[in-house]
Amino acid sequence: MKNLLSKALQAAQNSYSPYSKFKVGAAVELDNGEVVTGTNFENASYGLTMCAERIAIYIAQNRFPDAKIITLAIASPTLKNGILSPCGACREVMSEVVRKQGLDFRVIMQTPNDEFTLSTASELLPIAFRF
Ligand code: THU
Repeated sequence: MKNLLSKALQAAQNSYSPYSKFKVGAAVELDNGEVVTGTNFENASYGLTMCAERIAIYIAQNRFPDAKIITLAIASPTLKNGILSPCGACREVMSEVVRKQGLDFRVIMQTPNDEFTLSTASELLPIAFRF
């Protein structure tokens, strides 16, 4: 888990975040052994900013559509306190992955001092929207 978290932290170096100056990296581990990373990518219109988690998930789903996500790690070199936990929009996307693959996945969230908190996609969005 520390290994995946450090890959997320490393990926954050490629973050494009000139507005918030908050670099975020995400690393997705797939059941085929591949690891796909992503970073946040901000926009001058602010609202079009994309989070690291969604970029990593979408890249993984496009490159390996048949592979299942087993772990997602999120990290930032800029984190000062608290838990680096995914925003609501990312949770909806994570929930869609759970639905698609029929399997929940682990979420490793960075906390200060090289520590982390563990959860799962379903735990982070209980009673998710379905129709
Ligand atoms: N951000 C992420 O990439 N992931 C999260 O889970 C929360 C927020 C980004 C969006 C924006 O570029 C910056 O962090 C500050 O909100």
